[in-house]
Amino acid sequence: MIRAIFLTIVVGLTFLGDVRSAPALELSDLAPLVQLLAESDDPALQRDVLLGLRDGLRGRKRVAMPDGWAKAYARLSESQDGNVRELAVALALTFGDPQAAESLRRTIQNEAVPAATRKRAVEVLAESRTTDLAPLLQRLLDDPILRGEAIRALAAYPHQATPRLLLDRYATFTTDEKQDAIQTLASRTEFALALLEAVETKVVARGDISVVTARQLSALNDKNVTRRLQQAWGEIRSMGADRQQQIARYKGLLTPETLAAGNPSHGRLVYARTCQKCHRLYGEGGEIGPDLTGSNRANLDYILENVFDPSATIPREWRMNTVITADGRVLTGIVIQEAPEAVVLQTVNERLTLPRDEIDELQPTALSMMPEGQFETLQLQEVRDLIAYLRTQSQVPLPDVTASQPGS
Ligand code: HEC
Repeated sequence: MIRAIFLTIVVGLTFLGDVRSAPALELSDLAPLVQLLAESDDPALQRDVLLGLRDGLRGRKRVAMPDGWAKAYARLSESQDGNVRELAVALALTFGDPQAAESLRRTIQNEAVPAATRKRAVEVLAESRTTDLAPLLQRLLDDPILRGEAIRALAAYPHQATPRLLLDRYATFTTDEKQDAIQTLASRTEFALALLEAVETKVVARGDISVVTARQLSALNDKNVTRRLQQAWGEIRSMGADRQQQIARYKGLLTPETLAAGNPSHGRLVYARTCQKCHRLYGEGGEIGPDLTGSNRANLDYILENVFDPSATIPREWRMNTVITADGRVLTGIVIQEAPEAVVLQTVNERLTLPRDEIDELQPTALSMMPEGQFETLQLQEVRDLIAYLRTQSQVPLPDVTASQPGS
């Protein structure tokens, strides 16, 4: 009987990126599973049960502590398996175990703990929303190991000091940290105004604001943000009838001779900057769009049509959704999973579990997550190299930046 419940939960919740509903976990299912955890010595079984519980309870902020939890937790926290210990502390947090939040805070601040464990502790604690984590996250901006997690997690808190703290450090951030900072700042109206001011004063380079971010900023639907975005960054052009013209123009520019001069290594760099966040190619890249490895990518028409008219036909799972949370955060992303208690949203830089009771509005749009007209932000030479890269049949090395002089 226990085995049967366990299998339903674990099997029922293994989802692979497709939109579908996960079955809700009944609270009466918990006690036998907790008992199983308290009695088992098998780390693989413990891990599977814990994973099943985690997914089944995802998005519930507080669940009454089931009978026998204290005993099970004592055993799990002594496990030799770091994975089991981590999953157990996260679950303890859901059950409102006061020790758990404290233990995670200690893990985060303990530099002797492996980086991956500390990073996950930040994510777990931020996702649980048990306490106001903003002050701790703000301190972590000076910790090179946890900075990325801290920047992303700060988006969840409407803390006034956050934009200043991010922008003061912006120049010292890595490329990824800059992108995360921009996503965090683009998620709330107050933050966005500070971001646009930083673009106006050139603290943030105009080129650091991608079409994706510009679209996120206009999703905030605030007159001031939209006006200043237009002034500081430009118009997000809605292409309309222009599409066919643009495709024809690029076809004219990208003649066979021009393409023959393309440099696939440089193209890989352009790809890494503009496409890789969303698309896998040769086993590397994000999963916000389809894997391009097996696509018709050597065909110029196919590339141009998808780049200039990505929203022409969008399979449901790649549709962009706009979410507005109760505390004024606006997110855009694809819905990975819809459960009765929570929605899992993949944005351009993170995967978030949003409890239903924190969501004011969830709207599918008619748009693809792929922004249109990305080539217009690139030099023609970059487009040429990108096309050359997309035509390769196996991975090419990145350009050797140490050996080549600019312009050579
Ligand atoms: C913000 C995420 C995002 C970025 C950035 C992005 N894409 Fe896409 N792309 C998508 C999504 C989502 C789809 C699927 C929906 C659609 O067809 O519009 C897609 C579809 C495609 C397709 C069609 C693939 C198929 O199997 O149907 C091609 C080709 C493509 N993208 C190329 C590119 C290239 C080249 C770049 C870089 C210049 C790029 N994309 C940047 C999200 C993105």
